[in-house]
Amino acid sequence: MRLAARITGVGAYLPDRILTNADFERMVETDDAWIVERTGIRERHIAAGHETTSTMGAEAARRALVTAGIEATDLDLIVTGTCTPDGLFPAAATLIQHQIGATHAGTFDVNAACTGFLSAFSVATNFIAAGQAERALVVGAETLSRIVDWTDRGTCVLFGDGAGAVVVERAPEGERGGVDAMVLRADGAQAPLLYSQGPCSADALSHEAKIIMDGRNVFRHAVTAMADASSEALRRAGLTADDLALAVPHQANLRIITAVADRLGMPMERVFVNVDRTGNTSSATIPIALAEAVAGGRLAAGDRVLLTAFGGGLTWGALVLEWAGVRVPAAVRMPTGALVASPSA
Ligand code: COA
Repeated sequence: MRLAARITGVGAYLPDRILTNADFERMVETDDAWIVERTGIRERHIAAGHETTSTMGAEAARRALVTAGIEATDLDLIVTGTCTPDGLFPAAATLIQHQIGATHAGTFDVNAACTGFLSAFSVATNFIAAGQAERALVVGAETLSRIVDWTDRGTCVLFGDGAGAVVVERAPEGERGGVDAMVLRADGAQAPLLYSQGPCSADALSHEAKIIMDGRNVFRHAVTAMADASSEALRRAGLTADDLALAVPHQANLRIITAVADRLGMPMERVFVNVDRTGNTSSATIPIALAEAVAGGRLAAGDRVLLTAFGGGLTWGALVLEWAGVRVPAAVRMPTGALVASPSA
């Protein structure tokens, strides 16, 4: 069943500090050529000491609200996809609610690792379709630099920090925009492939929050899972890859993205890629990519868009949307056109 909930605003925030592959050459035994060849990543943004998932999420949210042309007080729901919230509680969404002044919104976080944004978006669109919310903010935000093992060259080069946000509103009958199909899946038996323990782990285990990953096996699962979920979402929507204007996959690794595109028969010209500049920001990759795609003029009203993600858990999923069109006032466009800027920029 099509969900009458559409994206009306997008925004993103990346912290100022950039860590390049050359910087890693001074930290662990690696080199730029290895990282670029295996991952496509050239640089990633790292949060400043005072920045957290909620502060970055709030900044992305402010930008999304500007493009949607609504106020924070118009929101009745905020859902944040994150696996690196500021603390165990309150939820990052609750801290974002306070920072943006969304005084009429209910809040909670969704943790599905890198599938967090897709999961949070699925919750919000279902709230709207069910009539339980009118205007929702969905944030994907992560401060992965705080749980990266900076001595493990197999993982530390992959991740970055950042946030993206979308405003979702009811799609009036007969108007463009909606969710054609969504597929969410998980296999908890594969948890040992990609996980982080934390303060509430069993006594016998380490309580240190740190990303632990079997890269080779994660790679294999990621390609199959995203390609299969995307095919299923397209089938349920009654569409094929040829009908898609743009695919916006989770940005974990360029080789994973090209392998998924290949399986779907999508030429790379219609696949959004920014992993070279952001690294893997987990739940934040898709909303950051959407904001950049809008700012770059790559999405038009009526376009069919595929979103697909994969992450620890293992979790994965895919959504097919009809794009409603998001207006980006020239005054809030950054000179580079790369990101939707804040009202003060
Ligand atoms: N620089 C140089 N060498 C490195 C390195 C680095 N940053 N990281 C690992 N290596 C080495 C390994 O130690 C290994 O050396 P060895 O053969 O002497 O033991 C060699 O490279 C091959 O390691 P392997 O892990 O098999 O490499 P790979 O081709 O699978 O590439 C990843 C490693 C992590 C890039 C790749 O597996 C990957 O991208 N996996 C998916 C990860 C991911 O996206 N996770 C998030 C999903 S949401």
